[in-house]
Amino acid sequence: MKRNPSQVDLPVESILNRLDPYVFGSMSLGHEDVPFETRLSMARYAMERCGWFHTSHKYGSTMDVLAQAFREWPMRIPKCIFKLSGDSLDEVRRQIDLQLEKLGVEQISIGQLHVGGALAADFNAGGKCLDGLRAIKEEGLVGAFTLEVHPWTSHIALDHLRGGQGRDIIEGYSFYFNPLQRYALNDLFALVLETRRPILSIRTVGGGPVEKQAARPERPEDFMQKRSAELLPVYAQSDCANWVDFSMNFVLSQPGVICTIGSCSTPAHLDDYLAVLKQERPSFNPSLTRKILALQTKWSDEKDVHAPEWSM
Ligand SMILES: NC(=O)c1ccc[n+]([C@@H]2O[C@H](COP(=O)([O-])OP(=O)(O)OC[C@H]3O[C@@H](n4cnc5c(N)ncnc54)[C@H](OP(=O)(O)O)[C@@H]3O)[C@@H](O)[C@H]2O)c1
Repeated sequence: MKRNPSQVDLPVESILNRLDPYVFGSMSLGHEDVPFETRLSMARYAMERCGWFHTSHKYGSTMDVLAQAFREWPMRIPKCIFKLSGDSLDEVRRQIDLQLEKLGVEQISIGQLHVGGALAADFNAGGKCLDGLRAIKEEGLVGAFTLEVHPWTSHIALDHLRGGQGRDIIEGYSFYFNPLQRYALNDLFALVLETRRPILSIRTVGGGPVEKQAARPERPEDFMQKRSAELLPVYAQSDCANWVDFSMNFVLSQPGVICTIGSCSTPAHLDDYLAVLKQERPSFNPSLTRKILALQTKWSDEKDVHAPEWSM
């Protein structure tokens, strides 16, 4: 399966052109209830098969596992997308230094920037932080920046995209995008597509099989259960082999999407992602695509647009 780079505008030299369609999400390597050696062996299994990882020093002991795996097998160190969050450029720089040191690598291939507080304001005003970000790139510390978007930060990305400030430094948008979630609100999502900006989709399978999520008891706070129950009839109409097949085919067929970041804890589950990539499928069923996108538009208006910070 190939992603569709013709639907985005990217300079040829951008490192985003070199992304694989599937990026191994490393969050589950931080699950401390699993023995360290088991997680290390999962990291090695993924290093052997995936050229790109997504990670963060905030994922528990994930970086301890990765640091050891990278030390032991330097020839197979993947390119990495790192989360970089902060209310100031100094904080972003500190996170860069910390993560590079921790993993023993020289460059963050892609820095996924989550701007908050004063940094967000300066960013949208086209202020000094843009030069600061350019300097970080020129120093070779970060290969490219993408902007992380949540429903409650969609307005920041929208202002930035409308104003055009920093467009040279923000090369793509990173947000939850899978059949059950699309965390760029409707107006931002439309503008990202219209302006042909690349999308890095986070959470390939929306947290796991839709049947399992739909089967949870109904509770008002469990919006993912409700969404799963709404999506189940659409999923039932597809000829996809399983939820991973459905989710990956859906998201990688969407205009603008240049990769999807999904995690797993076992080699068998990683094999499921990789099996989908080997398919030579025609594009995802257009009628099912329309139904999923219609649900996502409704979810965005009904709930996401009102969501308080970190509430979903
Ligand atoms: N703001 C951010 O930047 C942000 C936020 C959240 C996540 N992320 C990134 O995105 C990655 C993925 O996020 P996520 O783990 O929350 O969501 P996800 O990848 O959509 O879901 C992972 C879940 O799906 C299950 N799964 C995977 N393959 C499966 C298969 N073949 N059969 C059945 N179940 C399967 C996994 O189970 P097992 O663990 O049992 O394999 C795990 O419970 C993270 O690792 C992280 O790198 C980024």
